[in-house]
Amino acid sequence: MKFFNIEKTSEGKARAGEITTDHGKIQTPIFMPVGTVASVKTVHQRELKEDIKAQIILGNTYHLYLRPTMDIMQAAGGLHQFMNWDLPILTDSGGFQVFSLSKSRKMSEEGVKFKSHIDGSYHMFTPEKSMEIQRQIGADIFMAFDECTPYPCEYNQAKTSMELTHRWLKRCIDWTEENKEIYGHKQRLFPIVQGSTYSDLRKISAEVIAEAGAEGNAIGGLSVGEPEEEMYRITDEVTDILPKDKPRYLMGVGTPWNILESIGLGIDMMDCVMPTRNARNAMLFTWQGVMNMKNEKWKNDFSPLDEFGTSFVDREYSKAYVRHLFVSKEYLAKQIASIHNLAFYLDLVKVAREHIVAGDFYEWKRSVVPVLRQRL
Ligand code: GUN
Repeated sequence: MKFFNIEKTSEGKARAGEITTDHGKIQTPIFMPVGTVASVKTVHQRELKEDIKAQIILGNTYHLYLRPTMDIMQAAGGLHQFMNWDLPILTDSGGFQVFSLSKSRKMSEEGVKFKSHIDGSYHMFTPEKSMEIQRQIGADIFMAFDECTPYPCEYNQAKTSMELTHRWLKRCIDWTEENKEIYGHKQRLFPIVQGSTYSDLRKISAEVIAEAGAEGNAIGGLSVGEPEEEMYRITDEVTDILPKDKPRYLMGVGTPWNILESIGLGIDMMDCVMPTRNARNAMLFTWQGVMNMKNEKWKNDFSPLDEFGTSFVDREYSKAYVRHLFVSKEYLAKQIASIHNLAFYLDLVKVAREHIVAGDFYEWKRSVVPVLRQRL
């Protein structure tokens, strides 16, 4: 069975496809909920599958390595077994999380030495170590060990960092060729394009990554504080170079409108903590725009949470009730909002896919993006 099949290419770069893994199929374009520590925060696996209709979720090497540790992960038989999730999983490789979470770290050619944000203990991630951990986690798709540059980033720093990422990729590939899967299902390694906001560096990186011949490719180093237009420009330039017949994953993106614009630029997979993190802060994304559920204006509004929503929380609870839960700091508020936002993101990519198949994606996107951005 082929890993990636393109069902329909629209008039532009958007495409509708299907990824086949040993844990099932993924309809692309797809949004992947983030389950950093073997849990999509506040959401049950049953809800993810049945109400949100998630087709693949993310896990994080950095967090799972520190806790519960790989002894527990291997004793459980890998992450699918440990968290009772039998659909596809993708893991990020650790470097990006070391940079955003560990207060103390030291980079070298060898890898990155860092201090745990949990207990202050010291650890070393190398490309080989990241691959070993990701074999022990057993995700269907796993990521090369890279360095993500901050924004803004000096040209020379971006170039040096990108070259290091390319040397690390070679070490990731060598290690994974010598050390096969341990749980009996296939794992695919995706390399990551870097190069900050510099077109010439992005071009070099995309060519190096394409040359590696992986079954899918990712774009990193974006959505790190650069203007949206810069992110779209770089994505557009990189997707022009990455192979057309392989899935393209844009890491850490983004808002609902970022998702639609990225799909328009030829992206097939995306992940972001935004729907869950913002849900816990009372921000709801809907087809009508963005709602702050702590706002006084919902106090007496007994209409359904979201009349166009696809999940049970949208029909079964009112805006006034959810506002009350947030104002009262009830845990249920965060659960309801997280289910809503994730179900909305999955609905968003599903409808986008329908428009790609129907051949009117760009026209539809143009009309819907300004509405999605509205503050209600
Ligand atoms: N998540 C968001 N951006 C990145 C990136 O550039 N690299 C990795 N490994 N993960 C990311």
